[in-house]
Amino acid sequence: MEMTEVSVDNNSLSGGFNPYELNWDETVSFPSTRSLMEYGNKIYNRYPARSIFLVPRAIFYQNHLKNKKLNILDPYMGSGTTAVEASQFKFNIFGVEMDPFARLISEVSIMRFNDIEKNELRKLLEKIKKNWKNHTINDDLYPDLKNVEYWFDDKIFKDLLRLKSYIYDTITNENYLKFFKVTFADCIKPTSKMERQSTKPYISSKYEKKIKPVIESFEYSFKKHLKALSQYEVDNEYNPKINWIGNDASSFQSEETIDVAITSPPYLNAFDYTQIIKVASSWVGTLTNPDIKELRSIQVGHHYRREVKFHNEAINAFKTFYDKLLSLDKDKTRSSPQKLADTCLAYFNDIYSNLENVYRSLKKGGEYHMILGDNTIKGIEIPTHKLIANLAQKTGFDWFGYYKYPIKDHRTSIPRNGKGGKIKYEYIISLRK
Ligand SMILES: C[S@@+](CC[C@H](N)C(=O)[O-])C[C@H]1O[C@@H](n2cnc3c(N)ncnc32)[C@H](O)[C@@H]1O
Repeated sequence: MEMTEVSVDNNSLSGGFNPYELNWDETVSFPSTRSLMEYGNKIYNRYPARSIFLVPRAIFYQNHLKNKKLNILDPYMGSGTTAVEASQFKFNIFGVEMDPFARLISEVSIMRFNDIEKNELRKLLEKIKKNWKNHTINDDLYPDLKNVEYWFDDKIFKDLLRLKSYIYDTITNENYLKFFKVTFADCIKPTSKMERQSTKPYISSKYEKKIKPVIESFEYSFKKHLKALSQYEVDNEYNPKINWIGNDASSFQSEETIDVAITSPPYLNAFDYTQIIKVASSWVGTLTNPDIKELRSIQVGHHYRREVKFHNEAINAFKTFYDKLLSLDKDKTRSSPQKLADTCLAYFNDIYSNLENVYRSLKKGGEYHMILGDNTIKGIEIPTHKLIANLAQKTGFDWFGYYKYPIKDHRTSIPRNGKGGKIKYEYIISLRK
């Protein structure tokens, strides 16, 4: 087996490998996600299923792209890994993302603060620490989420609400407020009763959790975020900003303006982002009860999507697996085999629409790099990346690059009680218009 080891140097923008020189189906070995956190990743927030930043970095570093004024798109922006890397190459950034909480995190992830601003932020932190306890709770800021109190001790809940009230009532600078919102979001889990390791919100009945005091957790989060953003060099000529061109990757509108798109869409039948982030997002104010249903109706792969009209291309590409899913034993599936098969088909249908949209948005010769994982559903192996590569060719793309890497860190894999199987590799398919 071909294997390329990637080593990372803190100050290098090279990504450590050249994706355009890899052999077809080559395996690349990245350092563990944990160790990568130490190296030049500017994002601190714990957004679920973040992708490895070396993938976009290595693409942007190549001669045919770097030092140009390119338009870069990520249609499933998440917490902004693509945007962060694009910002280091001073590219124009375009994004699509359904979730307002993710949009907020990605906007903050590319912020540049000069020394004066960093000092102002530190002074604001001191002011917050001094005054928050005496601030009156603003009832309008109560998180609008059903049973939100369940996740917290009463005292902690009040403290969070008081701290939030102080921040939201007193910070007027728009960028600073966004920065503090993201900082605040990251102290929700440590101060809650939620299990730390579990991605889904859950309270363990076996282990009592050590809960961090609110202000201590907030200060810790503040320092981590500011440290992460301090790694950027500030350039007066370039102030990165994400141009949002839609919130649904399956139906956004764009002319032929994009040079390179890079993304990692949600996995087939994988986790429900809205569920995972709902507590933190409701605290920040980017999610209210009624939003949950609406967000799920946009979310790729969610069963709410299965009522849509399917493209023939998606039906044909998925036919073999669709039939296999239909023949599953009824008693072994939570929803009916028909529903499960339709939910999976809806996923490929959405990705097909996304491919059409990205194709339309690219300039001729433009590239689309997708990071994808395969899945095993009820014992049926689905080669998601190959199915998507085939669909891409149907929309007009040429498939010109193909490599994979083993997933080393459980944070990016999705254990589903042993039922879904662990995703062992991620695949990068590179497409050209
Ligand atoms: C795997 S994550 C992307 C992670 C990102 N690369 C990062 O490093 O943070 C997939 C993202 O797709 C978003 N998403 C799901 N369905 C979507 C849709 N129809 N349109 C746009 N975004 C969607 C989810 O909210 C999630 O943030």
